[in-house]
Amino acid sequence: MGLTAAGAAPALGSAQEAAAAARGGAAAGSAADASLVFDPTAYTEQTIGIKDTSGTTHSVTYRFFKVAAYVAEPVNAAYQSLNVSVPVSVDGAAVDASDAPILLANAVGGYLPSSVANATGISASGMGGGTSRQALALAAGYVVVEPGARGRTLVDANGVFYGTAPAAIVDLKAAVRYLRFNKGRVPGDVERIVSSGVSAGGALSALLGASGDSPLYDPYLAEIGAADTSDAVFASGDWCPITDLEHADAAYEWCWGANPLASGATVDATVSAALRARFTDHLAALKLRARGYGTLTTRNLDTYLLETFIQPSATRYLAALTDTARDTYLAAHPFITWSAGRATFTWADFLTHVGARKKNAPSFDAFDLSTPECNLFGTGTTRARHFTLYSLRHEAGDSARLDADLPATLHLMNPMYHLVDKVNPHRAKHWWIRLGTKDSDTSLSVAALLATRLTGLGDHVDTAYYWDAGHGADLDPGDFVSWIGEVTGHPGHRSRPGSRGR
Ligand code: DHB
Repeated sequence: MGLTAAGAAPALGSAQEAAAAARGGAAAGSAADASLVFDPTAYTEQTIGIKDTSGTTHSVTYRFFKVAAYVAEPVNAAYQSLNVSVPVSVDGAAVDASDAPILLANAVGGYLPSSVANATGISASGMGGGTSRQALALAAGYVVVEPGARGRTLVDANGVFYGTAPAAIVDLKAAVRYLRFNKGRVPGDVERIVSSGVSAGGALSALLGASGDSPLYDPYLAEIGAADTSDAVFASGDWCPITDLEHADAAYEWCWGANPLASGATVDATVSAALRARFTDHLAALKLRARGYGTLTTRNLDTYLLETFIQPSATRYLAALTDTARDTYLAAHPFITWSAGRATFTWADFLTHVGARKKNAPSFDAFDLSTPECNLFGTGTTRARHFTLYSLRHEAGDSARLDADLPATLHLMNPMYHLVDKVNPHRAKHWWIRLGTKDSDTSLSVAALLATRLTGLGDHVDTAYYWDAGHGADLDPGDFVSWIGEVTGHPGHRSRPGSRGR
């Protein structure tokens, strides 16, 4: 464990750069570029036990590389750094990951800063102490890259917030560019980067997938000395994405407006109704179409969500139970009709089943600026701002206008912008989207509309809602790793037993 194969990365001479370029890597043309050259000899070799989804523990030996900064001019390298883990052997059998897909697993939560600078190995445990999806991917023979990123709370000595929007997505794009710049030096296939993230990290992963190579980010990337190359990713895995933030308050009231708060209190009915009406208008303006439903509106969205995502989720859950366990569940949940192997129920009964909503109204652009999202859209020395006209005008009067920079900043943070307003041909074409049916951190429509739009664009989309699961759930991590193999055509280390728990 922890054998040091090489110390700190040596300073690179021009001979090394030339050699790297000759190996097929991007030529390092400037001093700034030189600092971005990955050193393939700077790793520690480690062996860990990784428990797969069937409960078998595998001995995995891997090379662990710490990259001190993935940009030439970091604002704060503690966040703008990344770690690379490359499998060498699994249970004693050699693994060649030199051309394997790369899982780019961000660890962003709450739009907070995330750092991997002090990590001494792959982050092997995931939610609830289980095996992380990164570790499963490593054991499957894939390269795992864990990037840090700036987040909304970071503030410098002058009181300037330097991790608010769009810093985190700019950093993740810079990490992608770093990998591609180092093609031929960094292990793995830089044209098969699969992004992953959960919640705010899921939102950023979706955004990374949707916005690949968009020129809108270029000034921000130039400012931090990001490599001058493509930041497109091949595939995007997004768990409970907290995204489409400027429409999220309205969507929330459409979805959870009738549900009480956990305290038993009900939200302000006037606010809820006003936001709900905004969602009707927004959805109508989107003109999203879904096969069999035509244009989605608030007249058919509940039925569409039920039939496309939520009832199939219940069906999968119930079908996987023993007859006895299913009978017990159905007896305790009489709102579900189980017939011919399928679960059906009404939207209203489903909402009652979910119970308390997690957030007050407005859920994201809170009147008192107390939410993570108001901070996310802070700027300069201003910690938090309103980013919707509704909340701004509620507080500042009917003639108030959003700060001039906000419309563009919102676009930089919203995958839907890159899929609807400006359809991005360089987006990822393979998508894995997951959400728990009891997750009221955002509207259940958010992931559904993302998936629906991508499907409409002809992309390959694997969407599933996890029945009765809450925020942050990942009930089929083995399936995701298998999916990486399917979409990239790279089988990985061996065929693995999948889990079908969703
Ligand atoms: C996260 C959760 C939220 O409810 C939110 O508004 C933003 C981020 C999170 O878990 O990352």
